[in-house]
Amino acid sequence: MPFELARTIGYRAIWMSALLLALSTNGSTQGLTVHDPGVRGGNAGAGEALPGISGAYNNLFVAGLAKFSQEDQVVQDGLGPRMNLNSCGGCHAAPAAGGSSPKINPQFAFVNSADHGNNTLPSFITRDGPTREARFKKTSLGNRTDGGVHNLFTISGMKGAQGCVLQQPDFEAELARKNLIFRIPTPVFGAGLIEQIPDRVIVDNLNNPTVQPEKSRMRVGGRVNVVVSGNTRTEQIRTQGEPNRNGNDGTIARFGWKAQNKSLLLFAAEAYNVEMGISSELFQTEREENPTCQFRPTPNDFTDPTKVGTFDLLSDIEKFASFMRLLAPPQPSESEPGGPQSIANGRNIFKKTGCVLCHSETLKTGNSVIPQLSNQTAHLFSDLALHQMGPNLDDGISQGEAKPNEFRTPPLWGLGQRLFFLHDGRTKDLLVAIQEHRGGKGPLASEANEVVKRFDRLSTKDKQDLLNFLRSL
Ligand code: HEC
Ligand code: HEC
Repeated sequence: MPFELARTIGYRAIWMSALLLALSTNGSTQGLTVHDPGVRGGNAGAGEALPGISGAYNNLFVAGLAKFSQEDQVVQDGLGPRMNLNSCGGCHAAPAAGGSSPKINPQFAFVNSADHGNNTLPSFITRDGPTREARFKKTSLGNRTDGGVHNLFTISGMKGAQGCVLQQPDFEAELARKNLIFRIPTPVFGAGLIEQIPDRVIVDNLNNPTVQPEKSRMRVGGRVNVVVSGNTRTEQIRTQGEPNRNGNDGTIARFGWKAQNKSLLLFAAEAYNVEMGISSELFQTEREENPTCQFRPTPNDFTDPTKVGTFDLLSDIEKFASFMRLLAPPQPSESEPGGPQSIANGRNIFKKTGCVLCHSETLKTGNSVIPQLSNQTAHLFSDLALHQMGPNLDDGISQGEAKPNEFRTPPLWGLGQRLFFLHDGRTKDLLVAIQEHRGGKGPLASEANEVVKRFDRLSTKDKQDLLNFLRSL
């Protein structure tokens, strides 16, 4: 056989076996085309206290972590009567306490556990799917704006909840009429740094004059979510004669998928009430007031001055907020996946492509009583602002100033260890997450359209380097 021919056949054989190997291990041609390298191996690089936290502050962190991880019970803890799960740590679990959805959905395990009460599992909660919270776009009766969280489970039939009879909402009917949207947990690593970024820094970054020409060329805008006092529900609801509920102070809100909440204490108290059904000094009212389902006085969680000298003096919501505030940001890897050169090039491509026009690499914190939070650079990859994201991502819900098609640029730190992406956890694949940024025309166009077009034109190598960079975070 002539040498050239032998070499061609040899190459072809190697190529074919590589293809077959890729097909047999991954069910796709992964390895030959651009692909999301998947969850980065190695240690979590998250879940610890801020570096240098010690003494009383470390004890507070440990007490907060214990409360955050605790699974609450019906009678003694005031769980429910309606809830989505029985612990913060269940939903904020991966890759460590404070994170996002774990591999095996704890909501699935909760309903299938020994004491699951009369709950049935909604079809959109699966064993391997993301932990979810469900919102209705419109009210189930009539067609008025809703937007609120409707809890998946009730305590009905659970140990200690004798006499309480509640029905779960008819999720399948709402699903059939396309009235349901989902949200997955946002991780809280580094949340103390995010909380400590002054409004001024967010606005200056958004209006940074050196970036403006590039932003207008790429048609990227953005605005902050200012929760105007008395305007936290939509205009429509107010004009329909609903009571005005819980306004804020007119400063920039920054936590949550729509940057709808101002502070960690506020989010902790809201989550305690909305996700777990536990009322507190900040949210006094039980969301389900059926008198046969109350097994503990309200508020369920409170400050206890008789516990002076211990952290149990603090209410649970203060403990949650302290834990999250003192939780370190995720540690990126310098070499995994793909090696340091690929990651360094990926970081450049991330900037050159324009991802950075929304996912700002860093923001600086202001003065804080906690030195580790004071004048620090947060490598969060977010401008904490709202952007119009087009019809693919539009969820039909308004929160504060955020319209249905507007979302906060999510911080990308910790992406390397994340399992599910986008507000409803619709994908595990970074390539899909990027493509979903695209859509819409004219006034409804996604602000990321031009950037995704640029991404599409990148070489295979640059695309792969960008994905490696994202998974190194
Ligand atoms: C059933 C799952 C679930 C439970 C339980 C849960 N969360 Fe969450 N958490 C979520 C979801 C979903 C979001 C995103 C909500 C949104 O933006 O619409 C979230 C977002 C957050 C955020 C915002 C972080 C950011 O930067 O955007 C904080 C803070 C938070 N949760 C704290 C808590 C605390 C504290 C508890 C316990 C009291 C808790 N959560 C319990 C699902 C859960
Ligand atoms: C116009 C602003 C904007 C631009 C430009 C942009 N993003 Fe995003 N990005 C967002 C917003 C907003 C979301 C959240 C959308 C949602 O969940 O509905 C998001 C979500 C993501 C997510 C999922 C994060 C999570 O927590 O689930 C990834 C990954 C991501 N972007 C990467 C990129 C990359 C890579 C680029 C450049 C090719 C890019 N983005 C360009 C605004 C932007």
